[in-house]
Amino acid sequence: MAQTENAVLQPPRHIAIIMDGNGRWAKQRGLPRTAGHAAGAETFRTIANYCRTLGVEYLTVYAFSTENWKRSQEEVSGIMKLLGNYLTEALRDMEKNHVRFRFFGDLSRLSPQLQKLCAEAQDKSAGFGDVQVNFCLNYGGRDEIVRAARAFAQDVAAGKYQPQDLSESLLSGYLYSAGVPDPELIIRPSGELRTSNFLLWQSAYSEYVFMDVLWPDFGPRELDRAIEEYHRRNRRFGGV
Ligand code: IPE
Ligand code: IPE
Ligand code: MG
Repeated sequence: MAQTENAVLQPPRHIAIIMDGNGRWAKQRGLPRTAGHAAGAETFRTIANYCRTLGVEYLTVYAFSTENWKRSQEEVSGIMKLLGNYLTEALRDMEKNHVRFRFFGDLSRLSPQLQKLCAEAQDKSAGFGDVQVNFCLNYGGRDEIVRAARAFAQDVAAGKYQPQDLSESLLSGYLYSAGVPDPELIIRPSGELRTSNFLLWQSAYSEYVFMDVLWPDFGPRELDRAIEEYHRRNRRFGGV
């Protein structure tokens, strides 16, 4: 894929995206919400490829939140079906694409077939390294922190640690994102100005770029614009 003209700026190592606006995109066209999710899945394919060509090391995408179960069964199963299709295709094209997959979230609530595809994608791609895609599925930032706290408490009960051993870096190691650097840039398309429970711990010093475009209309140009905006920010991390 040809890079757009602004792509000369060094991209951040880790970009995270809240893939939002599929439903409104479909509504604007008089289509069912599921058609919006199908279009959003296409956008994801394009953006993941583009991130690979740019040399982005980690791309974390919010695909399904712990709150998204509130939606109709029809919509939820439509999203799950699209995920299954994508993972089947990713497994087929693995040798060609060299994308490494990881999954953040409580996968136990997904269907056994989808869990199996996630496990296969993660295992079979472990040696690849062009870009690592972290798929957030049944992911919630608060849920992630609760699980980390629980796992640490279990290790304390088992005598592995003392309570006072807990530090920011030790806690980070209990998160789904263990070993992954925090995202420098988090993009939320669709015009909503909130985190919706995404990467609460990891986003402490991330630069947020909110954009009015709906996710199915997002493309390499929009990613370039977000990267440009990121480069205009003055990151102080509490200093001066
Ligand atoms: C994001 O698009 C996809 C998921 C949450 C799975 P939405 O479905 O939230 O689209 P809008 O926000 O209703 O437009
Ligand atoms: C966040 O979007 C979740 C994903 C994009 C997967 P939502 O559409 O669920 O968030 P709210 O409801 O607008 O906060
Ligand atoms: Mg939404």
